[in-house]
Amino acid sequence: MANVISVLTSKGGVGKTQTALEVASVLANNGNRVLCIDMDGQKNLSKRVGCDLKKKTILDCLTIDEDISLEDMEELLSKSIQHVNNLDIIAGNTKMGLAEKIFPGADDVFLLDAFCKSFVKDDYDFIIIDNPPARNVITTMSIIASDYAILVTDGSSDARDGIQLVLTDIATFKLDERRKWSNIEILGIVINKAKMRTVHFITEVQAYKEDVVPMIEEKGLGKNLFVQTVSDAIEVMEAGDAKKSLQDYKRYGEPAKDFRKVAAEVLKRII
Ligand SMILES: Nc1ncnc2c1ncn2[C@@H]1O[C@H](COP(=O)(O)OP(=O)(O)OP(=O)(O)O)[C@@H](O)[C@H]1O
Ligand SMILES: [Mg+2]
Repeated sequence: MANVISVLTSKGGVGKTQTALEVASVLANNGNRVLCIDMDGQKNLSKRVGCDLKKKTILDCLTIDEDISLEDMEELLSKSIQHVNNLDIIAGNTKMGLAEKIFPGADDVFLLDAFCKSFVKDDYDFIIIDNPPARNVITTMSIIASDYAILVTDGSSDARDGIQLVLTDIATFKLDERRKWSNIEILGIVINKAKMRTVHFITEVQAYKEDVVPMIEEKGLGKNLFVQTVSDAIEVMEAGDAKKSLQDYKRYGEPAKDFRKVAAEVLKRII
């Protein structure tokens, strides 16, 4: 049964998609069966691995008829799960950006959880979910469907605010008596685009270790969280242009090594 891991932060552009891709690639390179799900209407993960964007998407998988036959479902899965290198991925859909219109029902927040449990969890060791920089029905679906979360920040004060907002949402669906629909546990925080020798960055990392992590642990949203920095380097963008993960593009570069440390910290806490 797959461990479902969401990569989350409400701040845009901090490195969620890159983190999702790198963790998925490392786990797949280690021989695990890995499925990525692109929940972001921007479809960045789908584009970054070179998906065929004309195929069926996660939106098709989440909007199936309740009484769909097993045969039709198998056909849909075969049309929506794409095999790229050693990863499987279900591509994103632009319409997911209009989430509130597409998923207006109160029960719609359970759709991703139901899809994973009914149709894909048994076939994989890990399901990695990339999320939009948003707080909406999409991120709620992901929080409910996930066993674990990796939070990503870029070390700016705006991103620290973004982490606080995600924590509020995770606390709602994990701890609020009326809406306790998720068992999600925060595994750790990736501080991406690290400029390690700057005073600002050193202070920021310290603030995560001394303030943010203890606060998360005290709230009961995670135990023994990791804090892992990932170096800022142009090769991350180059890898995106080449439609490769850093693990395939520049395996021995600093950011690729840092992301392997992230994956190792994740594994330590799950297995
Ligand atoms: N460590 C890094 N060094 C340099 N550039 C990076 C690094 N990590 C990510 N980037 C670049 O920053 C941009 C944003 O990264 P990414 O798409 O992973 O962020 P995101 O949080 O998923 O964004 P969004 O919120 O829009 O989904 C991309 O162009 C990516 O190539
Ligand atoms: Mg993204």
